[in-house]
Amino acid sequence: MNPLKNLDKLQPYPFERLRALFAGSQHTGGLAHVNLSIGEPKHPTPDLIKQALIDNLGGLAVYPGTQGLPVLRQAISDWILRRFDALVDPETQVLPILGSREALFSFAQVVLDGCGVGNDVDCHVAFPNPFYQIYEGATFLGGASPVFVNIDPETGLSDFHSLGADVLSKTKLMYVCSPNNPTGAVYTLEDWQKLFDLADEHDIVIASDECYSEIYLDGTAAPIGGLEAASRLGRSDYNNLIVFSSLSKRSNAPGLRSGYVAGDADLIKAFLRYRTYHGSAMSTTVQMASVAAWNDEEHVAENRRLYTEKFKAFSAILEGTLNLHIPPAGFYFWADLGQSDTAFAKRLFEQAHVTLLPGSFLGREVNGFNPGANHVRIALVASLAECSEAAQRIRNIL
Ligand SMILES: Cc1ncc(COP(=O)(O)O)c(C=O)c1O
Repeated sequence: MNPLKNLDKLQPYPFERLRALFAGSQHTGGLAHVNLSIGEPKHPTPDLIKQALIDNLGGLAVYPGTQGLPVLRQAISDWILRRFDALVDPETQVLPILGSREALFSFAQVVLDGCGVGNDVDCHVAFPNPFYQIYEGATFLGGASPVFVNIDPETGLSDFHSLGADVLSKTKLMYVCSPNNPTGAVYTLEDWQKLFDLADEHDIVIASDECYSEIYLDGTAAPIGGLEAASRLGRSDYNNLIVFSSLSKRSNAPGLRSGYVAGDADLIKAFLRYRTYHGSAMSTTVQMASVAAWNDEEHVAENRRLYTEKFKAFSAILEGTLNLHIPPAGFYFWADLGQSDTAFAKRLFEQAHVTLLPGSFLGREVNGFNPGANHVRIALVASLAECSEAAQRIRNIL
């Protein structure tokens, strides 16, 4: 079906690799399993979302439109204004998406239109390394080649300026991830300014993955989003910028499959056109539940409180044993082990029945170096009691 065989370039997903790593491994100590590998929120989905679903079951009887209901686009643009002090036109600059994953993937098809064999256009897509693997799959299936920009261990972020002019001139799209998965680092306004300058100079579209924007340490300033940065820097048309956000992490609703894209009206228009054919309209029932979720902040604040509590408890237990830095945002520890991440993850599973994600599974080797190697990602998604228990077991093993 695909003459280029781009499908063959898709790498096994990190969790598939984890299953392969643990194949034949067994925990024999009788301890209950604690899974801190997958970034799936486990705090309860708020009742107000569940109730809105029940109240709007009539939506199951209608085909939804791809552009989404005006009431949802208005709720999203109101939320963006409250949270980021950025104005977006609900008619032309916002679209609902079925969680950010599908949109991060399909958006590349829009930007990379015309790339690849047949068109003989050599296109690049740049993104951090380690990274959320969808960026790479989107790149390959869009007929482009990935440019891995290693994350600086000091800042937890990638410096796209390190790329040469020859690479940048072929780069059509940059995925940026702030708050970053896995490091939790966030862009400052100055970082955003530099990124916009680079994108302007080389006419690159910025796809800003912001699904962790609401999970930041209690009592600290909220991370600056792409739209906010653009607005503050006088770029209120959001030229060449599109942000991706989602209710999955913010509202503990990964199964709702609800998020938004917002930004450059021309890009939104092209994406809407693509999505109409792609068939990714959001059920009206889910749209109404999403309105309820975007309109409430109480459950989000409680979420932050719970994650902050877990970060503190976990790092206190491991103090002096494992060098852990509580990140400004996200719900992951990104820990430098100073030893093989895969061997450690396997030993931890077998001896302590705790599952973590080896960092090398999230990265790619560039010039013989995988920046994820010797690291583990620890997702603090389980309860405080389970996270504390896992930290204690990790301490014993180390
Ligand atoms: C960096 C990053 N982006 C996007 C997503 C996709 O989340 P969703 O599709 O639930 O919005 C995830 C999920 O774990 C993620 O870690």
